[in-house]
Amino acid sequence: MQKQERYNALRREIQSVLQGEADPCVWMATLACLIREKLQYFWVGFYRVVGNELAIGPYQGTLGCLRISFDRGVCGACATRRETVIVPDVHRFPGHIACDARSKSEIAAPVFDRRGRLRAVLDIDSAELNAFDDCDRQNLEIIVDWMRDLEWPDTI
Ligand code: SME
Repeated sequence: MQKQERYNALRREIQSVLQGEADPCVWMATLACLIREKLQYFWVGFYRVVGNELAIGPYQGTLGCLRISFDRGVCGACATRRETVIVPDVHRFPGHIACDARSKSEIAAPVFDRRGRLRAVLDIDSAELNAFDDCDRQNLEIIVDWMRDLEWPDTI
């Protein structure tokens, strides 16, 4: 199956499973599971914005690092730039945080609330080099945009 077809199936499933659900934690946990299951990536999860750093949220995969400051790593770059970051080879990304040596490429997408406030970062790792492209970027940005109107508490 082509990657876009997998994303089409993923998007249909997300819409049917999470329709009417407004709790961001329920969304993050369910998305981590469904994205990993449908796309078969190595690690899928969320880092929450807590104060002035990122703290681990719901994820699927091996142990993720617990806290990341905004000036570190792929997730920190995503949070600071407020845009999706694609890293074809993590070993060539200055400041990359290696949670698991098997991770070779990575994509991180920012999650905003309806006021445009950054609330989380969706982080996905692959065990293959150069696994992520515009297809991932476009589909993941559509998916995280569905989280914009959720009922975000002051701190998630
Ligand atoms: N590699 C990330 C850290 C999180 S893990 O990949 C789960 C980074 O550099 O921000």
